[in-house]
Amino acid sequence: MKNYFPNKSTSTLQKKMLIQPFFVDQRLKSKKIIKGMGNNYSWSQSAIIKGIESDLKKGIKKFLLFIVPKEKQKLPENFSYHYEIIRNLKKEFHKDITLLVDTCLCSITPDGHCGISHKRKIDLNQTHYALGLAANTYLEAGADIIAPSDMMKNTTRYLRKIFQDNNFSNAQIMSYSTKFKSSFYGPFRNAANSSPKGFDRSSYQLPVNHRKKALESSIVNAAQGANYLMVKPGMTSIDLIADIKKETLLPTGAYQVSGEFASLQLLHKNKLGNYQDLLFESLQVFARAKADFIITYGARDIAKYL
Ligand code: PBG
Repeated sequence: MKNYFPNKSTSTLQKKMLIQPFFVDQRLKSKKIIKGMGNNYSWSQSAIIKGIESDLKKGIKKFLLFIVPKEKQKLPENFSYHYEIIRNLKKEFHKDITLLVDTCLCSITPDGHCGISHKRKIDLNQTHYALGLAANTYLEAGADIIAPSDMMKNTTRYLRKIFQDNNFSNAQIMSYSTKFKSSFYGPFRNAANSSPKGFDRSSYQLPVNHRKKALESSIVNAAQGANYLMVKPGMTSIDLIADIKKETLLPTGAYQVSGEFASLQLLHKNKLGNYQDLLFESLQVFARAKADFIITYGARDIAKYL
């Protein structure tokens, strides 16, 4: 089985470590700027092709796709738009791109939660069922890596089981294995149309002050069959990466999330710092911390310097 992100960090920032996130939004006719996020846009299905071509020219080959459908669904079961997007991208670019697909329900549930909820409580069975339908659909469409970001209990185990049952036993999972409840997700939620309503995400995302829970969460996801692990937000998880790798021996990356990235943009905009320098420094620290891969909205901006 192909290992896209080997667990042998050299502590040096390299182009091949970078993953560029992007958004495809069914409500759009072409592309739309994402507030505060510099060179990042939400794209329509047809406009994204040019966007990816341009990234490929810069040497970016790995992408994390977020799909934002027009219609919300109380019990999500129709992922045909998602299928179409993934299928078209893989048809167009084949093996030239490694396509990771974020697998969550927050862009599709009417209340913006990562699972299906009733009276402010997540229904785990219904949530797993919907996530399973989504993940299977993405694999059928040609996704290279499934990236569950819902943070519900035992999602990785559930997905492994249904992949087994559906002849996808070689499917790869990048788990958002240590993901904190954070105030740094603001710009993302605008783009993903996924702000939580009614209650916050503290019943399923990790508390930032709890180191043991943070490590355990990654260890559990490794045991349940994740191929790659990840910490998020990157900056507030920097001390965890090496320990997670030591415990699990799995490739482990860092996600520089939207609010972290937007803060670099804001410093620059206000003439309080230089964007390229800020970006370079922040990413070098992830490499120093032994991240095997880095998801950053600045991948396409930094590539030419590496
Ligand atoms: C949702 C999801 C979030 C991000 C990635 N997947 C936001 C959240 O948990 O509310 C955040 C990414 C970012 O801020 O860049 N499942």
